[in-house]
Amino acid sequence: LQLVVLISGTGSNLRVLLEASEDAEFPGRVVAIGADREADGLALGEEYGIPTFIVPFTAYPDREAWGEALIEQVRQWQPDLVILSGLMRLVPPAVVDAFSPQLINTHPAYLPEFPGPHGVRDALAAGVDQTGASLIIVDNSVDGGPIIAQERVPVLPGDTEQALHDRIKPVERRLLIQAVLDIANSHLDLKELSRS
Ligand code: GRF
Repeated sequence: LQLVVLISGTGSNLRVLLEASEDAEFPGRVVAIGADREADGLALGEEYGIPTFIVPFTAYPDREAWGEALIEQVRQWQPDLVILSGLMRLVPPAVVDAFSPQLINTHPAYLPEFPGPHGVRDALAAGVDQTGASLIIVDNSVDGGPIIAQERVPVLPGDTEQALHDRIKPVERRLLIQAVLDIANSHLDLKELSRS
């Protein structure tokens, strides 16, 4: 499976996909890394010899224009799967139309609990004793698409946002890797899931 991964941040989840890509037995290959800004994680492209591109959100008049430019860049790589791994932008409907249901997103909460950009912070503020990690198909809602997989993660006394996020991320990575495996061996059919 050809994977295009889109990021805004450090790309620690991306690193796990890049490492998996180097394993001949793993069915996924990261073919390109894209970002909406000068994200730290783009340096991983150089480290792993994977091409990178930036479609700067602020360089376009609106979200739609940015989305069109993003579609053009991503399409060049003929991805089987487009993974939003910490892309901190809502993608416009044209991007959803272009790639969904082969457009998936990791989220650091147990959806539908705590959607939006501050899933970890919001769970802490709510005082819950467990949150989680989710992998979803991206649709035109905010983190409301069909759930591919999710797992609970405990909130521990004294947790900071950072500490809790650090506990959640390895679970996100596991869900992501498992999803690529499941898609490759046909245990997971995103088209079917998106219809249900
Ligand atoms: C992850 O928790 C992802 O779900 C998100 O932002 C984080 C990205 O982390 N919404 P990293 O850039 O992969 O370290």
